Amino acid sequence: MNKNFLITGATSGLGEKFTILISDIAKKIVIVGRKRNKLLKLKKEINKINRFVKVFIIVADLSKNSGVLRLIQKLKKKTEIQSIDVLVNSAANFTVKKIENVSVKDLNLDFQLNVISPFIISKYLGLKMKKKKNGVIFNIGSSSAYDCSKETSIYCSTKHALLGMSKAFNTELKSHGVRSIFIAPGSMKTPMGRKVKNQDYNTFIDPKEVAMMMKNLLDDKRSILVEEIKIKRKIYK
Ligand SMILES: NC(=O)c1ccc[n+]([C@@H]2O[C@H](COP(=O)([O-])OP(=O)(O)OC[C@H]3O[C@@H](n4cnc5c(N)ncnc54)[C@H](OP(=O)(O)O)[C@@H]3O)[C@@H](O)[C@H]2O)c1
Repeated sequence: MNKNFLITGATSGLGEKFTILISDIAKKIVIVGRKRNKLLKLKKEINKINRFVKVFIIVADLSKNSGVLRLIQKLKKKTEIQSIDVLVNSAANFTVKKIENVSVKDLNLDFQLNVISPFIISKYLGLKMKKKKNGVIFNIGSSSAYDCSKETSIYCSTKHALLGMSKAFNTELKSHGVRSIFIAPGSMKTPMGRKVKNQDYNTFIDPKEVAMMMKNLLDDKRSILVEEIKIKRKIYK
């Protein structure tokens, strides 16, 4: 397939599973996270699967506006990674707090990471995809974009916003060959999933299965256009 990917949240959970899964079909992969050592470890793992894939590491804290601007600057400077075919916005924070304990700082941090940074990255790369009339943007949402549980008011608000963003990008860019797809899983077996309260972790979704479904969606030869996908677990406990 020989595609170029940029994946945020590549160092853990769904982002990591997807990164490993597409290693065999990728030409270049840009992996983004806060911790260089985790990114280096992942780079090694990718090259074990496919020694021909070129892996680029970008360290950026996307909960800060300066972090996302740094990422864009790095992309602008590196001519080798100008053309991204598939963007995955997976990095996010899941804050568990009662409404009375939510601060403006909490709101700013999570809105920046879960909504504003994905918007800025999608704008930058989405417009480049528009020019070459081809591209996919995966926005990793959540069941919290539709239903909310207690003590997740910030997360729930950000994922509702991300759904709106994802649809807006699809509306504006689909006629130019760019697909913006909202992936909305229920609780998954990842470090973030460990923070979900009062539910049986053993019943959670395997993130690899979600990653496999995303990989299938890369095939653009179909007559269907997928805009959003809700993924539920079989057993809810
Ligand atoms: N797990 C669930 O139950 C669940 C359910 C539905 C939807 N989701 C969604 O699925 C996506 C992936 O979640 P996951 O479960 O795979 O989470 P995870 O395993 O906890 O991974 C989170 C990823 O986000 C990155 N990240 C966190 N804060 C960051 C920051 N400030 N700047 C840059 N990167 C940051 C982390 O990288 P570093 O720590 O290396 O920086 C890590 O790679 C998220 O959008 C989440 O909302 C998760």
